[in-house]
Amino acid sequence: MDSSAQDAMAQTKSSSSGNGPSSIFIHETAWIDQPSRIGDGTKIWHFSHVLPRTSIGRNCTLGQNVMVGPDVSVGDNCKIQNNVSLYSGVTLEDGVFCGPSCVFTNVDRPRAEINRKDEFRPTLVRCGATIGANATIVCGTTLGRYCFVAAGAVVTQDVPAHALVAGVPAKQIGWVSHAGERLGADFTCPREGRRYQLTEDGCLKEILGQDQPDVAET
Ligand SMILES: CC(C)(COP(=O)(O)OP(=O)(O)OC[C@H]1O[C@@H](n2cnc3c(N)ncnc32)[C@H](O)[C@@H]1OP(=O)(O)O)[C@@H](O)C(=O)NCCC(=O)NCCS
Repeated sequence: MDSSAQDAMAQTKSSSSGNGPSSIFIHETAWIDQPSRIGDGTKIWHFSHVLPRTSIGRNCTLGQNVMVGPDVSVGDNCKIQNNVSLYSGVTLEDGVFCGPSCVFTNVDRPRAEINRKDEFRPTLVRCGATIGANATIVCGTTLGRYCFVAAGAVVTQDVPAHALVAGVPAKQIGWVSHAGERLGADFTCPREGRRYQLTEDGCLKEILGQDQPDVAET
């Protein structure tokens, strides 16, 4: 999210009608703590709670019963489905999809009797990634650009860009395109025709046209 995305202080319930200069929509049952920033075009639905020092980009959707913050950054164009909590330590880049009831953790060995607020481990979800319904993302991991976490998976280690991972613990079962389509042996997206190749170091890269470099960081 660039600085221009941080274009509006969080709207209070009374100024969230969408009729003003900002088109932010905040349902009357949602609660927005200050200070926080919410980008233009973002919608926040029933019973959701944004905690202090949270930054949410433009054109995001927070479904019902979503909790974000404190000190969390969410990029532009993210979709966060019902019943998702983004705790301190979680960062979402642009275009991230969080499926319903997916879970992020932020402490490795929680104990009710020990305060571990200084032991949060960060989780980074990179641009375009999808997290399926009910998946759990154990803290300290990075989910690569445009990766895809299957429904119900438990992610315990970093996920490469464009990897499709599934199961408990999550293992890679394939590759997906920018459009989220499973790639076959020809590494061509059946939906968009974009072509990819595996590099020597095992990363998936898109093959670009003649006027562009051979491969690009996806
Ligand atoms: C992973 C997913 C994308 C399917 O990918 P796919 O390439 O079409 O996979 P297929 O359905 O062809 O199944 C391939 C294999 O993966 C398994 N598989 C599929 N989804 C799985 C999952 N969520 N967890 C574990 N294994 C799964 C299948 O059982 C199959 O196994 P097999 O080869 O032993 O028979 C899909 O199942 C999924 O989880 N989507 C996320 C949906 C979601 O959470 N949406 C949220 C908004 S509603």
